[in-house]
Amino acid sequence: MKLLLSIGAVLALISASATAQNSAPPFPPEQVKQGAALYAKHCAACHGARMVGPEWAIDLKTFPKDERPRFVDSVTHGKAGMPPWGDVLKPDDIAALWTYVVTGEAK
Ligand code: HEC
Repeated sequence: MKLLLSIGAVLALISASATAQNSAPPFPPEQVKQGAALYAKHCAACHGARMVGPEWAIDLKTFPKDERPRFVDSVTHGKAGMPPWGDVLKPDDIAALWTYVVTGEAK
């Protein structure tokens, strides 16, 4: 059931972005905006500006959209070549980054 719900959420996101970019966003636009700003400041150096063309870190657009706990854990505690962000970013900041990663760059 939980899995079905996640699949539904992903499908909803896909169809939402496939249709009108600006109608009924699944997350508050302010939160996505905050995430975009935090991303530009802390993450873009490695993951690429606007999540496009990362040089050597993973492409965050391919990060599984139903693995929020893994995102929070990796970002908070670091992973392999990535430093931990738990001392720099508050949980609210990481939540905003997650909404940015999930919704993608607004057009
Ligand atoms: C110093 C370069 C660097 C910066 C800055 C950086 N990352 Fe990373 N990140 C990496 C690398 C390298 C990996 C691949 C780690 C691996 O090999 O699994 C990665 C992986 C990830 C992953 C995938 C983790 C997983 O579970 O597979 C996420 C999510 C992520 N980064 C998010 C972020 C966010 C959000 C920020 C900004 C707060 C950020 N990164 C900043 C280098 C960086």
